[in-house]
Amino acid sequence: MAFQSARRLKVVLVSPEVLGFAKTGGLADVSVALPRALASRGHQCTIVTPLSRSARHGPVPLQATEKELGVPIGNKEVTGRLYRAVLPDTEVPVYLIEQRDYFERDDPRCGRGLYDYVAGDGKRRPYSDNSERYIFFCRAVLEALEALPFWPDILHCNDWQTGLIPVYLREVYCQRGDDEQRNRYANIATVLTIHNLAYQGLFWHWDMLLTGLDWRLFNYRELEFYGQLNFLKGGIVFADRVTTVSPRYAAEIQTPYFGCGLHGVLWERRASLSGIVNGLDESVWDPARDGYLAANYDAETVGVGKPICKADLQRRFNLAPNASTCVLGVVSRLVDQKGADLLCEAAEAMMQQDVQLVVLGEGNPVYERMFIDLSRRFPDRIGVRIGFDEALAHQIEAGADIFLMPSLYEPSGLNQLYSMRYGTVPVVRATGGLADTVIGYDGKASDVESATGFVFQAPSAEALLDALCRALCVFRNEPEIWRRLMMNGMKQDWSWSRSAAEYERIFFELQKERVLVVDGRRNQGR
Ligand code: ADP
Ligand code: GLC
Repeated sequence: MAFQSARRLKVVLVSPEVLGFAKTGGLADVSVALPRALASRGHQCTIVTPLSRSARHGPVPLQATEKELGVPIGNKEVTGRLYRAVLPDTEVPVYLIEQRDYFERDDPRCGRGLYDYVAGDGKRRPYSDNSERYIFFCRAVLEALEALPFWPDILHCNDWQTGLIPVYLREVYCQRGDDEQRNRYANIATVLTIHNLAYQGLFWHWDMLLTGLDWRLFNYRELEFYGQLNFLKGGIVFADRVTTVSPRYAAEIQTPYFGCGLHGVLWERRASLSGIVNGLDESVWDPARDGYLAANYDAETVGVGKPICKADLQRRFNLAPNASTCVLGVVSRLVDQKGADLLCEAAEAMMQQDVQLVVLGEGNPVYERMFIDLSRRFPDRIGVRIGFDEALAHQIEAGADIFLMPSLYEPSGLNQLYSMRYGTVPVVRATGGLADTVIGYDGKASDVESATGFVFQAPSAEALLDALCRALCVFRNEPEIWRRLMMNGMKQDWSWSRSAAEYERIFFELQKERVLVVDGRRNQGR
C-alpha cells in the first residue's frame, strides 16, 4: 500500500506540458507522475495547464466549466474559459486554461509546435507573441484558483512559462482586497522547478507593458536581464523555493559554464535552491507490463524477452536481423543540449564496429538531415525515424543493447532511467542528472557490484567513442559482467514515490514558514 502522510497538503502543479494533453519533453512526464505520486501519498493535488490543440483532440475528454477568465494584457482585456478533465487512471483533476488564439495553434502536420514553428527557411522560430501567451496563462492560473476544488498551500510552478506566477502572486494578488483576502493569497507558498535553464522566456523590454507589472520591478535584481524581460528570472527571484531536477544540476547552474547568465541570481538564492532527481513512472515504463513491446519481461525473464524485442526493433528499422550485433539506441530531441553533433560526428567511426544504430528524434533540421544522410549511407546498419513516436520510444528502450546519451548538459534526464529499467545499458556523459543516476563501470572487480552503465567526461566525439568501445568490449567478451550491469540497472529504485517524498518535505517546510509569515503580518495589523 502506498505510504500516506499524516498531514495532507493541497498542491496545485502548474505546467505548460502534461502527458496525454501536450508534450515536447520530459516535463510532460513529470507533470503527471509527480501529482499522481503525491496523491497516492495522501495529498490533494490538481494540475493546471493550457488547453492546447493536442489536448483538445487528445484521448482525454474535456469539460467546460462555468468559470470565465478575464486577464488584462496591456490595455486590452483577454478572455478565456476554464475546462476540466481527470488524469487517466487517477482521481487527480486537471484544469485547462482555454484561449483558442493563444493555445490552439500547435499542429505537427504544419510544423507548428507548442512554443515554436518551422519558418519558410526550414528553421524553428518561437512564436512572436509568446510573452503575451504566457503572461495570460500566468494570470489566468491565479484567476482560476477560486474555481479549483481547494485553496492551495503550494503552487508548484514549472519552467519559464510559469515564471511570472510567483511575481503576480506577491506583487498583485497579495496586495489587493481586504486583509482577509490578502492573507489568503499570502498563505500560498510557491515553488519554481527549473527543468532546463537554457529556456528562460526572454522578451523585449517593452513587453513589461503587457505584464501590467510596475516598471520598478524592471531592474537587474528582479525581472531585467541584459536589457530584456526574463520570465524565469522573475520566478527564481520571487518563488519561495527553487528546485531543479538533480542535485548535480543544482550545483552546476551556480557556475558560469552552466548558468546561462543566471548563475549569479541562482547563487544568491542558493539557500533556497536544491535538486531532486526525477522518478520513473512505473505505470508507463515497466517492461513487464508495457503494451508496446513484442514481448514483456522482468529481471528474471530478460534473457528470453529482450532478444524478441531486439529482433522486432531490427525489423521495424529494416536492419539486418543479426542477434549478436550490438544495437545502439537513441531517443532524443535532436538539439545541441543532447550532444546530437557528437553523435553525428561519432556515427561513422561507430560503423567500423559490429554495431547497428537506431535513432528516434526531432528538433534542429540540420541534425535531422545529418541523421537521414547517415541512414542512407548505411541503410542496413543505421535506422533513423524523424518525428515523435511514443510506441517506438518504448520499443527502442526494450530492443537496444546500449542507450547513448552524450548530453552537453542534462538537468535530470529520463531516458537513462528508462534504459536501466529495460536492461539497456546507458553510455552517458557525466553531467547533471546523468552523473547523479548512472554509476560507471571502469573495469574494476569492485565496480561490478554497483555499476549500471558507462560514463565519460569530455564533451567530445572521441570521449563518447572511447566509452562506447569500453562498453562494446564488455558486451562481446564478458557476458557475465554485462548481465550484471543489466541486472544492477533493472533492480534500481527510481520510483516516483522516492522523489515525491523529497518534494513533500520541501512543501511541508514551506507551509510552516508561510503560516509564520502570515501570522507575523496579522500581528503587525497589515
Ligand atoms: P528532455 O525533456 O530534455 O527532452 P528527458 O530525458 O527528460 O529529456 O525526457 C524526454 C522524454 O521525451 C522521454 O519520455 C522520451 O522518451 C521522450 N521523447 C523524446 N523524443 C522523443 C521522440 N522523438 N518520440 C517519442 N518520445 C520522445
Ligand atoms: C528537461 C530536461 C531533462 C529533464 C526534463 C524533466 O527537459 O532537459 O533533463 O529530465 O526536463 O525534468
